[in-house]
Amino acid sequence: SLSRPTALRGPALTFSGDPFRDGLDRTMVHEPDAIVAMQDGHITHFGPAARIAPLLPPGTEIRDFGKDALISAGFVDTHVHFPQTPMIASFGTQLLDWLERYTFPTELKFADRTYTRQVTRRFLQESLRNGITTSCVYCTVHAHSADILFEEAEALGLRLAAGKVLMDCNAPEALRDTAQSAYDDSLALIRKWHGRGRLLYAITPRFACTSSREQLAVAGALWREHPDCLMQTHIAETEAEVAWIKELFPERSSYLDVYDHYGLCRKRAVFGHGIWLGDDELQRLHEADAAIAHCPTSNFFLGSGMFDITRAIRADRPVRVGLGTDIGAGTSFSILQTLNEAYKAAQLNRHPLSAAHAYYLATRGSAAAMHLEDKVGSIAPGMEADLVVLDMRSTPLIAFRMDEARDFAEQLFIQMILGDDRAVQATYVAGRPAYAR
Ligand code: GUN
Ligand code: ZN
Repeated sequence: SLSRPTALRGPALTFSGDPFRDGLDRTMVHEPDAIVAMQDGHITHFGPAARIAPLLPPGTEIRDFGKDALISAGFVDTHVHFPQTPMIASFGTQLLDWLERYTFPTELKFADRTYTRQVTRRFLQESLRNGITTSCVYCTVHAHSADILFEEAEALGLRLAAGKVLMDCNAPEALRDTAQSAYDDSLALIRKWHGRGRLLYAITPRFACTSSREQLAVAGALWREHPDCLMQTHIAETEAEVAWIKELFPERSSYLDVYDHYGLCRKRAVFGHGIWLGDDELQRLHEADAAIAHCPTSNFFLGSGMFDITRAIRADRPVRVGLGTDIGAGTSFSILQTLNEAYKAAQLNRHPLSAAHAYYLATRGSAAAMHLEDKVGSIAPGMEADLVVLDMRSTPLIAFRMDEARDFAEQLFIQMILGDDRAVQATYVAGRPAYAR
């Protein structure tokens, strides 16, 4: 075989299924002393150390993280804008003004390839130091922004989906493409990158406010011709945006119906936000097997609203829901901090989100939102070896609080409320160390 077998030892948490659907007892795997062995980019063994140790090939190098660690599948970020890394924490406006005042001026700078590469590297490093090993990424309108992100992701061996933004109206001239160039540029990027190593292409109309009918039609046609690509866009993030869509598309029955009409609502669609969707739209997302990316830090930062996850996953018509940082409207690369805010969004909807359910969302649930749950998002033999190792005592306050915790559920909850990038001790990509604190 190609690489030397390696193994991590320590407490581990993963999910064999969806705890929202089938309950924690049937889906959560918590192993207080586990070995995760890997070779050639895949997990080869997982289970209690005492059972796995004798099965390991001779010469396996075992790294023991000790009892205060937690080994998990790498985190999955289902909605993020890498070009907005330089404008995170921009003051004072809601979505539509925020786009005009901060986002578009920032994205204009990506005409420069050198700048684009610098930001790309910062973005990927920041993701890895927060344990994020797979992302679904918006680039800018510039085709080279996608090329450069894919080049850097390939060098790190990441499984990552991304796409050039399509935007041909209601944006500055220099950030607009056309229906034709959107098609041509996206097609060239699909041919070059989709399915190359671990990379995937996501057809990326920014949102229906910035695409003409002609461009939406072209995006739908391209997706029909390349149906195993992902498709990502924004939907029903703010009330003002929903009102604008009504003006722009009076002939359509709802916001989702705009996308649906142009062939943009089906399996492998990832819709950002969806706070203000109606029941009929949730029903349609369920039927189409499309997903919503829940981005709580962004929704609170822009004052967009609080997404009701319990409503979205209602048992009689569950919609796939993943978690997104939505940098740079989102305020943290930390998935733990994103879960903290997801907990608060759930609280405001009067449905508390348990820590175990939250960790599912951050890993296997987000992988499932991208239809990648057979490849990443959980620890099991055959899965790709993307892992994060948390330090459960990463700050003095967390260590002090952990001494009071009665059980594992409480320990896990403490991490997602108090933890941040300091809690990420190591990140592994395809079995190789990609970050160490
Ligand atoms: N809707 C359309 N574009 C964007 C964006 O860049 N960020 C957010 N949060 N919402 C959007
Ligand atoms: Zn977004």
